[in-house]
Amino acid sequence: MRLFTLLLFLTLGSAGAAEPILPLPEIRPAATPASRLGRRLFHDPRLSGSGRLSCTHCHRLDRGGDDDRPRPPLPTGPHPHNTPTVFNARYNHYLHWYGDLDTLEEQARVALQRDMQVDWPAVLARLSADPDYAASFRRLYGGVSETAVIAALVAFERTLVTPDAPFDRFLRGDTEALTPRQRRGYVLFKRLGCSACHQGVNVGGNLRQKLGVFGRYPSDDPGRFAVTGRPQDLGVFRVPSLRNVALTAPYFHDGRVKTLEKAVSLMAELQLGIRLTEAEIQDLVAFLHSLTGRWKPEGIRP
Ligand code: HEC
Ligand code: HEC
Repeated sequence: MRLFTLLLFLTLGSAGAAEPILPLPEIRPAATPASRLGRRLFHDPRLSGSGRLSCTHCHRLDRGGDDDRPRPPLPTGPHPHNTPTVFNARYNHYLHWYGDLDTLEEQARVALQRDMQVDWPAVLARLSADPDYAASFRRLYGGVSETAVIAALVAFERTLVTPDAPFDRFLRGDTEALTPRQRRGYVLFKRLGCSACHQGVNVGGNLRQKLGVFGRYPSDDPGRFAVTGRPQDLGVFRVPSLRNVALTAPYFHDGRVKTLEKAVSLMAELQLGIRLTEAEIQDLVAFLHSLTGRWKPEGIRP
């Protein structure tokens, strides 16, 4: 029996199949002419109705790919939701807090409409009047169009990947990549059941789950119910990715949770019905810090 267990361990262990989390590819996708065009568009406030907002206004690439505000302001009042990071968004199966969008293309259309109040005819005219833009669009897409703007933005977003997190090095066999505390945190993350929801290559992003299985999170947000109208979707949210989570405070869909410590202890209480000790919280937080990767070689700042 022991031998069998050992063999099982060796088989699963060597294939890496036993781990609920997979590493990101080691090498970031290379820039392409389309992604370079998209990069410029991502930074360009001329895409917005006001002429003052660019995607980077809320998704700061020099920070965690988000902003530091609980909820960004829109002309109509505060945004209903906290800004998630754009880093590694290509690996999420579901997008947005409600998990109601499946592709980056659909998302970019919503972002332009809702978050940037785009005036398409004006934007297409502006881009066509700019000789650099006009030439790039002509070469890559045969001309300037809504579909082309979105395709280029998405081509850029697909390069926003942050490899080389200590945890990824650990998963590839470098046991020294994590501190003892981070290793304890990872064991706890699996043992308690955090990894039942936060798993896969993005440590989340591929499930939709009820927030508040064991208690109520104080929010009036109906969750996915708002888009589906089905009673079973009340309070259901997309399980967010925890990659780079140490850089993306504040937390939760309403941005009301200020620290990672608080987010972790709330999760244990609400999702697992467990009250963590201070030491367990610190171990889990240390583990979450090991999920910070690099975008530029110099890394990303909080
Ligand atoms: C005013 C702030 C703001 C601006 C400007 C903005 N976003 Fe966002 N972005 C958000 C918020 C808030 C969400 C979450 C929306 C939700 O879940 O309801 C989001 C979600 C996203 C997501 C989904 C991430 C995920 O994992 O769910 C992507 C991708 C994204 N934005 C890309 C863009 C792009 C591309 C632009 C520019 C065209 C842009 N955003 C402009 C605030 C902004
Ligand atoms: C039953 C599924 C489930 C389990 C188990 C679970 N989570 Fe979550 N987690 C979620 C959902 C859903 C959210 C989004 C909450 C929201 O919408 O505000 C979330 C959010 C988070 C956040 C905030 C991320 C952000 O960007 O705002 C952290 C950190 C987190 N979880 C860590 C943990 C840890 C640590 C554990 C184990 C103690 C855990 N989770 C267990 C489903 C789960």
